[in-house]
Amino acid sequence: MTIASNGYQSGFGNEFATEAVPGALPEGRNSPQKVAHGLYAEQLSGTAFTAPRGQNRRSWLYRIRPAAMHGTFEPFVPSPASAQTFHNLFGHEPVTPDQLRWDPLPLPETPTDFVDGLCTMAGNGSPAAHTGVGIHLYAANRSMDGRFFYDADGELLIVPQQGRLLLATELGVLEVAPQEIAVIPRGVRFSVELPDGPSRGYVCENFGGLLRLPDLGPIGSNGLANPRDFLTPCAAYEDVEGDFELIAKFQGHLWRAPIGHSPLDVVAWHGNYAPYKYDLRRFNAIGSISFDHPDPSIFTVLTSPSEIPGTANMDFAIFPPRWLVAQDTFRPPWFHRNVASEFMGLVHGAYDAKAEGFAPGGCSLHNCMTGHGPDAATFAKASSADLSKPDVIGDTMAFMFETRAVIAPTRQAMDAGHRQRDYQACWAGLQKHFSTPA
Ligand SMILES: [Fe+2]
Repeated sequence: MTIASNGYQSGFGNEFATEAVPGALPEGRNSPQKVAHGLYAEQLSGTAFTAPRGQNRRSWLYRIRPAAMHGTFEPFVPSPASAQTFHNLFGHEPVTPDQLRWDPLPLPETPTDFVDGLCTMAGNGSPAAHTGVGIHLYAANRSMDGRFFYDADGELLIVPQQGRLLLATELGVLEVAPQEIAVIPRGVRFSVELPDGPSRGYVCENFGGLLRLPDLGPIGSNGLANPRDFLTPCAAYEDVEGDFELIAKFQGHLWRAPIGHSPLDVVAWHGNYAPYKYDLRRFNAIGSISFDHPDPSIFTVLTSPSEIPGTANMDFAIFPPRWLVAQDTFRPPWFHRNVASEFMGLVHGAYDAKAEGFAPGGCSLHNCMTGHGPDAATFAKASSADLSKPDVIGDTMAFMFETRAVIAPTRQAMDAGHRQRDYQACWAGLQKHFSTPA
């Protein structure tokens, strides 16, 4: 990769303006008759032109060649093909109401880049209808070399679990490490480099409304993920020609077109539709200082709204290090069944509702109205814990993609060798303690 980072600008959804070459950004207009330095002007819209101003997202790009310049797309079969199934629509098969859990996706043994290493686990809705999500894992061991990718179906929320990612995008370079996240907007072209070698993580592909910060209600004007902690790259470009390929995900399928130059050739841009990163360790966790604990929505980092107020297409929530001080309270997560569906992952450490079996890099799926909660060992320990002292949950980072619609696992996820077929056994040891009083 010849493209180097030019640093970051801070803030969530700001009207950014950045140029890698002085004078490349037009002044006072978006599309002058002649752009400075012989660049082409191109608008990239992430919302309808007429979306209300508060939600309207678009950027103006000033680039060496327009995005229209590439060869003809043909269907693309990634290598190894067996590791990948992108679904146009989820839920063609009956979805089991069972609790599901998987060990970490094994790292590849043959050369595999980020695109080849994507493995679709589950999803709902459809890219055509602009609703729902695709949930993928990635496991890769080499950088994308002469290959560029974009996803027309949704924005990509990337959660690295092992190894840093260098995301060289049209709008600049992001470096993300485990316990950080990155969001690549729908349509933005990028390439992934692996500075640490074998790397693994999670991807939520959001077909619905763009991710945004949740409203804070009575919490007030600060807290949870603070806007200034989100970082968007400054403009950075490469001027490179060669025999490259452009991979597109469009309507659930992958396509490949030859391209004779790097599309990472945006010299300057301005606007509010851009990639960003966020360090999850900066999340201001808020919880109970009396008794009980709030619903896990208190841990929402980003939310994709649906057309129903308060009912998200997808929420991204985390379970970060925090103190537990509630009195006369079962402190771990309670047993529950929800109308929403929950796909969980673990980036680092241990998750406080499970004593064992949920490893970093693993994942679980608890669908609509499927009962779940602490395992038997966690219940026994927390039920007799000394509440006169606070507990600290340190050195952990779990997360959840929570959706309003049922999350259908893919056939390859159900058949995977790393699925834990005995997951339900973690609740088998819960004893009956009740007897009807005489
Ligand atoms: Fe849950």
